[in-house]
Amino acid sequence: MTRILITGAAGFVGRAVAQRFLAEGHEVAGVDCFTSYYDIALKEARVRTLEGQAGFSFHRLDIADGAAVSALFQAFRPEAVVHLAAQAGVRYSLENPRAYTQANVEGFLSILEACRAHPVRHLVYASSSSVYGANTKVPFSEKDAVERPVSLYAATKRANELMAQSYSHLFRIPASGLRFFTVYGPWGRPDMAYYKFTKAIFAGETIDIYNHGQVERDFTYVDEVVEAIHALVGRPPADVVEGDEAPGRVDPSVPHCIFNIGNHTPVPVGEFVAILERLIGKEAKKRLLPMQPGDVLKTYADVDALRRAVGFAPRTTLEEGLARFIAWYRDYHGNKLG
Ligand SMILES: NC(=O)c1ccc[n+]([C@@H]2O[C@H](COP(=O)([O-])OP(=O)(O)OC[C@H]3O[C@@H](n4cnc5c(N)ncnc54)[C@H](O)[C@@H]3O)[C@@H](O)[C@H]2O)c1
Repeated sequence: MTRILITGAAGFVGRAVAQRFLAEGHEVAGVDCFTSYYDIALKEARVRTLEGQAGFSFHRLDIADGAAVSALFQAFRPEAVVHLAAQAGVRYSLENPRAYTQANVEGFLSILEACRAHPVRHLVYASSSSVYGANTKVPFSEKDAVERPVSLYAATKRANELMAQSYSHLFRIPASGLRFFTVYGPWGRPDMAYYKFTKAIFAGETIDIYNHGQVERDFTYVDEVVEAIHALVGRPPADVVEGDEAPGRVDPSVPHCIFNIGNHTPVPVGEFVAILERLIGKEAKKRLLPMQPGDVLKTYADVDALRRAVGFAPRTTLEEGLARFIAWYRDYHGNKLG
């Protein structure tokens, strides 16, 4: 592959994926519209790390604008698409539901329509562990029924998987969806708990811990996600397979796969806060609160399908990954740490 279009390139995961492909000499067209969901200065700073590198071009556009997306596909002629642009976040979907249908449903349709008009070798797109919703059987497997979302965010991500399935069936678009499990790391997202906790611990402010710390998350270091996407892009699903042996395959007759991507190690949030306290060298002030609407108790990824497909084997421990995050955080926010 030489020409890769990455949506959400000003985002946390998008920046890191773009960097990976640029370092190998690919041509990357990055797309983002800098939504104001969190600090735009951070998104701009991420894009500055990519700008000026050979092969990178940035395109400021809203993916819900189908004509703009189509024009970009026509001009750039991507061979692969890594679609990461979305309205993310579970809790915000209770406040601003339309942001989710606009970016995640309308926006994803633009990407699918563009892939239909300008065929690509592989469309890799972000789904989410939140599709498992109220499921309690762990670890979560791609073969489990996912019909009980507990937030609109989750419902839009599940909708993306179904939309991809139908377009892949109708127009033979090779597509792979990745259900991300709580991705963290340098250049991360300020709306996520690990980032908020870090900020509060440095500032001596109180952190809110839901369900009295009894929530567990399968934290995934960003580089593991980047490596998996990098490996997957070059391995589009075959048009038809015999039986249902191909890992991640939804249906043997449709070139569409869905994979979990997690660390296969759930960690209680209380333990996670203790690691942050050690790394920052300061105790957190904690306020224990009940469970929040829209949240799930535990996430735990079965990653066997991704292991079989691309040899996925996460190696970064939570301590190592958080140490790298804290090092980045000190560097980026240095003058404001107090
Ligand atoms: N980080 C995680 O833990 C996690 C977990 C599950 C799923 N995901 C999914 O992974 C993907 C990447 O997540 P992230 O953590 O990098 O989030 P992010 O918010 O940092 O990045 C998403 C980017 O998309 C852009 N965007 C939003 N709507 C857009 C639109 N209509 N047009 C163009 N750009 C738009 C935003 O400005 C942002 O820069 C998302 O699809 C997200 O839902 C992430």
